[in-house]
Amino acid sequence: MTQEQNQVAPTRLRGEQVIRTIVREHQGLWRIIDLMDLLEQDMNINAALPDELLFGAIFDYIQHFSNRVHSQPTEIRLYQLLKEKSAESIPLLEKLEKGYVIGHEKLQELRQLLKDCMIHWPDGREAFGHGLSRFSAALRKHIKKEEGVVIPRARDLLTDEDWDSILSARDQQDDPLFGDRVREEFRDLRHKIISLTPERLGGLGLAHTGRVTAHHEGQEMLSIKNLVTSYGQIEVLHDVDISINAGEIVSLVGANGAGKSTLLMTISGLQPMDKGQMQFNGEDLAKVAADKRVGKGIVQVPEGRQVFKDMTVYDNLLLGAYTRGKSTEIQDDIERVYSKFPILRQKRYNLAGELSGGQQQMLAMGRALMARPRLLLLDEPSMGLAPLIIEEIFEIVRELKDEGMTIFLVEQNASQALALADRGYVLETGQVVLQGTGKELLSNEKVREAYLGM
Ligand SMILES: Nc1ncnc2c1ncn2[C@@H]1O[C@H](COP(=O)(O)OP(=O)(O)O)[C@@H](O)[C@H]1O
Ligand SMILES: [Mg+2]
Repeated sequence: MTQEQNQVAPTRLRGEQVIRTIVREHQGLWRIIDLMDLLEQDMNINAALPDELLFGAIFDYIQHFSNRVHSQPTEIRLYQLLKEKSAESIPLLEKLEKGYVIGHEKLQELRQLLKDCMIHWPDGREAFGHGLSRFSAALRKHIKKEEGVVIPRARDLLTDEDWDSILSARDQQDDPLFGDRVREEFRDLRHKIISLTPERLGGLGLAHTGRVTAHHEGQEMLSIKNLVTSYGQIEVLHDVDISINAGEIVSLVGANGAGKSTLLMTISGLQPMDKGQMQFNGEDLAKVAADKRVGKGIVQVPEGRQVFKDMTVYDNLLLGAYTRGKSTEIQDDIERVYSKFPILRQKRYNLAGELSGGQQQMLAMGRALMARPRLLLLDEPSMGLAPLIIEEIFEIVRELKDEGMTIFLVEQNASQALALADRGYVLETGQVVLQGTGKELLSNEKVREAYLGM
């Protein structure tokens, strides 16, 4: 290359410099398309729920191209100049320009299909998969046309002056496709994709729960309105309103018998509701059976750590993944649970009944994590445990939140639960009597008196 560079005229060299930039961007994009295909296969073969965060990063990357171009497709300097020089290229170039605009729309459709796929798993898988294949095929075709037709023609027809003008558009950063700043942004986006891609697919496999994408953060995940639940004739929950946003820890405190467990069981579908509305990510839960709710990511750790005492720790964990297809991913997840709770690795061949109370609580939580929760419902995880173990359990809850999980924490241990929470609710005899941020509730007189013994 160096030798060749020495032989060509300086302006020509600049032409090649432009082409190299374009080709490099194409290669980057091509690798991302390959990755999309791999992820799609993974989803079909392993029946693995798509990684929302990773797909989100990929779509962001591609959208970066399309955002740049979509509002101003005629601004691509190379296209402009080539149109002037070669009338026969105009139909193709216009088609490619239109491709950018259509690509932009298709990308929004893909994001929606992904969202539907997450909510209606596994029913939405096929539509999302098809969307992905169509999209990657179209992108590949686009790149091939640019490389196979546009660039050779540009090489033949553009003058030194033309290349200069393209190059200066690039350097002044006003080229929508490969201005300097644009490329800088691409680099960051690509880095994010590589970090999130699992190791077996050639990425860095950065550990993350991957259930909550950045654009979901802060959005309402669970909405409960006017909920009434009864046991036979006895109404236990009266017009309960609760809302949980993605990424939050929300604590529910209240005395024994207030209806906390009943509320959790109503959310997970183990207890029917009499009246009211419950929505999870915008979907009406009334029509969703309990086992289907687990598939959607609503996973409960019941009160009193109900592990299968005459089964091994390992088998208990495996059972947690029962709603998911068999796959190597399940082993990966077991490893992830072990790294969160090292004691479970150590005791993996012990019967669950041989574990201490704290260890059983960890097993119950580990088993819930195997179902890959998006909303984790924890029913009094600290009950009956020693202070040090309680601290350990709450520390893990905090870690899960940091990884993006949304947590609804039910506790009688109000001080610690509220200290940990973003927001909290106080339930008294089946009614929400107070709500606020964790801090607000901790400093509330009534709460201090009734629940903190101060
Ligand atoms: N299976 C059941 N059948 C009848 N009543 C129940 C049942 N479970 C709970 N209850 C009653 O419902 C009320 C709320 O119970 P629960 O939700 O377990 O409260 P908490 O979890 O806040 O201690 C209590 O009065 C309790 O006696
Ligand atoms: Mg309870």
